[in-house]
Amino acid sequence: MTTITDAQQLVAQAREQFATCGTAAELEDAKARFLGKAGAITTLLKDLAALSPEAKRQQGGAINQAKQAIEQALQARRDELAEARLQARLAEEAIDVSLDGRGQRRGGLHPVVRSWMRIEAIFRSMGFEVAEGPEIEDDWTNFTALNSPQDHPARSMQDTFYVDIDDARGQPLLLRTHTSPMQVRHARAHVQRHQGAADMPDIRVIAPGRTYRVDSDATHSPMFHQFEGLWIGHAVSMADLKGTYTAFLHAFFEREDIELRFRPSYFPFTEPSAEIDMRFDSGPLQGRWLEISGAGQVHPTVVRNFGLDPEQFMGFAFGSGIERLTMLRYGIGDLRQFYGSDLRFLEQFHAA
Ligand code: PHE
Repeated sequence: MTTITDAQQLVAQAREQFATCGTAAELEDAKARFLGKAGAITTLLKDLAALSPEAKRQQGGAINQAKQAIEQALQARRDELAEARLQARLAEEAIDVSLDGRGQRRGGLHPVVRSWMRIEAIFRSMGFEVAEGPEIEDDWTNFTALNSPQDHPARSMQDTFYVDIDDARGQPLLLRTHTSPMQVRHARAHVQRHQGAADMPDIRVIAPGRTYRVDSDATHSPMFHQFEGLWIGHAVSMADLKGTYTAFLHAFFEREDIELRFRPSYFPFTEPSAEIDMRFDSGPLQGRWLEISGAGQVHPTVVRNFGLDPEQFMGFAFGSGIERLTMLRYGIGDLRQFYGSDLRFLEQFHAA
């Protein structure tokens, strides 16, 4: 009866050994020790050959039971290991839904764009249209129509980026040096639109946008922003310019203690021409005159180029720098900060 006892002991041994196997490979090794070709169970079965038929039946049955028990134990341990592997993977790949998300960094509007939008809103509230036009402009619209003919010395007032192609009429193209060509584009379109009407409604428009000059230092950038203002009617004067611009500044800076000064100047497209200076009556910039805009009464030659009779129509124009106004509003010292892409600078305006 030794074999029967042996068989029962083998089951206990197998269970013990299977339990210590931590991996599928270890378990397969252990399985071989019991059920493999040279395994303990196989050896017992071979030994049966020497027994009598009676003993064979008895002991054979016991060995087979043991074999089944070991196979069951093996399968049970396999299942345990597979379950453990699954749990380990689940734990490893678990997503902690209670953690805060990494989130998207929130962007914000550039301070120059903020000013641009403010300027549009303020002038719209005063009855102005808003127009935009091309940054690549033709020579006639940027200069000639604005009373700066070819070879006119005033052209060298603005150092121009020329584009290496000419337009269909063979005139040079350039990056507009100011928003003033929008006076011409908008006025001519307006005149055309109202052709044949008994009377033409006033032209009252601002044209904000990017402008370009060969220039770069703390107060000049090769790309910068201006907004052009134009109001043309039958009796629109410099007094209207002063009233309009004063109202704009009060709204833009959200304060009333601002003085304006018109300083005589020269532009080919206005006569008389002025620089508009302003000063705050309080705060860190108190009492300092700051130049913020060119302006003037639109020159008769330019009114004619609009397609209008300068005996009938008159008005004013101005062109102001958006960067300059933004620097004054937020107290920014160096223009180059606008274009350095430094988030420490830009993020200060996200909630402004
Ligand atoms: N275009 C002028 C400049 O860029 C400004 C200006 C606009 C002056 C309109 C008078 C009238 O310097």
